[in-house]
Amino acid sequence: MTARERVAGNVAGYVDDRTGAAKWMKKNLTKVFPDHWSFLLGEICLYSFVILLLSGTFLTFWFDPSMKEVVYNGSYEPLQGIKMSAAYASTLDISFEVRGGLLMRQIHHWAALIFMIGIVVHLMRVYFTGAFRKPREFNWIIGVGLLTLGIVEGFLGYSLPDDLLSGTGIRIAEAIIQALPVVGSYLAYFAFGGAFPGEAFIPRIYTVHILLLPGIFLALITVHLMLVWYQKHTQFPGPGRTEQNVVGYPLMPVYMAKAGGFFFIVFGVTAFLGAVASINPVWLYGPYTPGQVSAGSQPDWYMGWLDGLVRMAPPLESYIFGYTISWNILIPGLILPGIMFTGLALYPFIESWATGDRREHHLLDRPRNAPNRTAIGAMALTFTLVALINGGNDIIATTFDLTINQMMWFSRIAIIVLPPIAFVVTKRLCLSLQRADRDLVLHGRETGRLVRMPNGEFIEVHEPISAEKAWLLTSHEQLAPLELPEHDEAGVRRPGALKNKLRNRISRAAAVAVPKATETERRELEGHH
Ligand code: HEM
Repeated sequence: MTARERVAGNVAGYVDDRTGAAKWMKKNLTKVFPDHWSFLLGEICLYSFVILLLSGTFLTFWFDPSMKEVVYNGSYEPLQGIKMSAAYASTLDISFEVRGGLLMRQIHHWAALIFMIGIVVHLMRVYFTGAFRKPREFNWIIGVGLLTLGIVEGFLGYSLPDDLLSGTGIRIAEAIIQALPVVGSYLAYFAFGGAFPGEAFIPRIYTVHILLLPGIFLALITVHLMLVWYQKHTQFPGPGRTEQNVVGYPLMPVYMAKAGGFFFIVFGVTAFLGAVASINPVWLYGPYTPGQVSAGSQPDWYMGWLDGLVRMAPPLESYIFGYTISWNILIPGLILPGIMFTGLALYPFIESWATGDRREHHLLDRPRNAPNRTAIGAMALTFTLVALINGGNDIIATTFDLTINQMMWFSRIAIIVLPPIAFVVTKRLCLSLQRADRDLVLHGRETGRLVRMPNGEFIEVHEPISAEKAWLLTSHEQLAPLELPEHDEAGVRRPGALKNKLRNRISRAAAVAVPKATETERRELEGHH
């Protein structure tokens, strides 16, 4: 044993005597993880969160969350001599005076954008593959919590510098709070410590942005990952993979090396973007004053859909018992997002209720084999995308020489018409893909080789696919629809008959499928060929 090995052994022994870590490490470091590129999406969220914590901590050394009025006399000439808040002035100082400050600000902002896109794409992979099914429903709900908090955290972050763009965003947030019937104006007064904009809001959201929400994030991400650990990761069907096992590589050394490398790739991309791509150049916007709004004001993309919904709302207001109810803000700003996020959180429960499938699932679905789920996802994405596009209605209108009215009417109609179309088209596409799979299993792969028969007919030669591929294309389950009886044996309508009828309908829609090729059919056709 070399001296170095002896020292390492002594240190390990010392720690183990006091913590009993060796047994725990031995068990957990050999834990097996399945391998698929889409399982890296959650890791992108994790690594960009770490980057956010590190770059954000750097920014707190110089950022001054104060509304105290100062006169700017830093090195950015166009703003010299202008009155502004200390918050805005310190953001300018970080950008122009602090060494590496602008780079850190840009890394922080890019990391936030990557974090949010990572969350949304990770959510989509979990949704479209059915990874949210039992026993992972809790983790799905924690995920929806993380998404919601991410949106709020990002919004609070870009509201801090007190520039003209961020102030405009805060003004919209204030309007949404005020739209709450009865309590709205009191709540807004409470949040802003008086009339808008006041001096209290930015120091308050600073505490929430750097202390409260990151703490909640850390706690939720820890629970999220502990659950992935405990429940084990799902896997796509494949040779040797069952509902009871996990096929993959051990955590140590394979995943440690992969994950470590991947962290540096995510960090590298973020640092590169921070170095070369300008983001949120607040010095161009100027300090916030409530009387001004610059043309082309845009929120960050993860808020764009909400802005787009508010922008397309028709001017609806009612006056009830002396209170004004602004439906034009209440519906797009609170009611619709409330329905969207509640629906998202409850989706795993709605699906298992509708299909009657309450079993555990550790093997993932191919999206085409769950056409209804895939179509609902496409419908929800289309709705959000139309809203997001309308969030940039002014920019799109000026770029393509349209009027704001044309954009607004396009969005108002599209948000109602396009989602159902997306549903139908996606469902048909899934069924066509199922049909293609069935043909592939039964008739083999098209080779592109044409052969002329003695009678002059041309046929294309098909090659049988491998047994492994044929098994993969037919290993999924095809659930039969629920048949909940409306009447009992005596012919009397059962209690809850209407509910059962609805469940039957939904489950019938969910069970529509092209029957997968069976082994008998395959054998028969093989003999035939
Ligand atoms: C801060 C944000 C998030 C982080 C850091 C994070 C991290 C992760 C990681 C590292 C994994 C394991 C690897 C993978 O499957 O990609 C995972 C799995 C999972 N995540 Fe997330 N996630 C976040 C947000 C979300 C969201 C928004 C949802 C859904 C609403 C979600 C639902 C799930 C589920 C159900 C699993 C288990 C997947 C399986 O076993 O196949 N997560 N998450």
